[in-house]
Amino acid sequence: MKFFLDTADVAEIRHAAALGLIDGVTTNPSLIARTGRSFGEVIREICDVVDGPVSAETVSRDYAGIMREAHHLAKIHKNIVVKIPIFDEGLQAVRRCAAEGIHTNVTLIFSPNQALLAAKAGATFVSPFAGRLDDTGIVGTQVIRQMVDIFRTYAFKSEVLVASIRDPLHVTEAALAGAHICTIPPAVLKALSKHPLTDIGLEKFLADWKTAKKDGFPV
Ligand code: E4P
Repeated sequence: MKFFLDTADVAEIRHAAALGLIDGVTTNPSLIARTGRSFGEVIREICDVVDGPVSAETVSRDYAGIMREAHHLAKIHKNIVVKIPIFDEGLQAVRRCAAEGIHTNVTLIFSPNQALLAAKAGATFVSPFAGRLDDTGIVGTQVIRQMVDIFRTYAFKSEVLVASIRDPLHVTEAALAGAHICTIPPAVLKALSKHPLTDIGLEKFLADWKTAKKDGFPV
């Protein structure tokens, strides 16, 4: 399973990339706005730091506008993935992008039928929102399991990119569902390697190590 970092914070991206933990990055208009910086500048910087897909989202609601944004974004860097929300004109643009060899990420997916439409349009990635589904009282990862099953049945090339991840359990559930990718906020990524028993175990090993014979071992 691939991990993307779900942020536009370049310092966080740099840190996770240096640790070798991420395969790509996703952004959205809210994350870009939070940086207080210019969209193009942030996206270019992210592409310089990460050697993998970087999703940058379009905001137009009409086909011509989406395509204008898609062409502009695709020129920024070869790793740009044009992120397009699901609605009819968006799907039309996804189909056109696929024909032109522009990678797309269809976002704001909340149902298996939306995922099916995005895959049929030729999306590179399809992004169901686990956390926002949970907020409505529906178990997001169960819906994601259905999407993965459908994609497998029809051998779609589109990859299921689980978004709106709120905690480590979402990552486990997405992995069990067979999702191809999770896009994870920095705080959740940091929590993945943590376990209280690991901390207790480490403390005990280090305490015992102080009493061990080391014979010139460098630590
Ligand atoms: C990423 O592709 C999505 O835009 C993001 O995961 C949404 O997360 P949120 O529901 O926490 O805003």
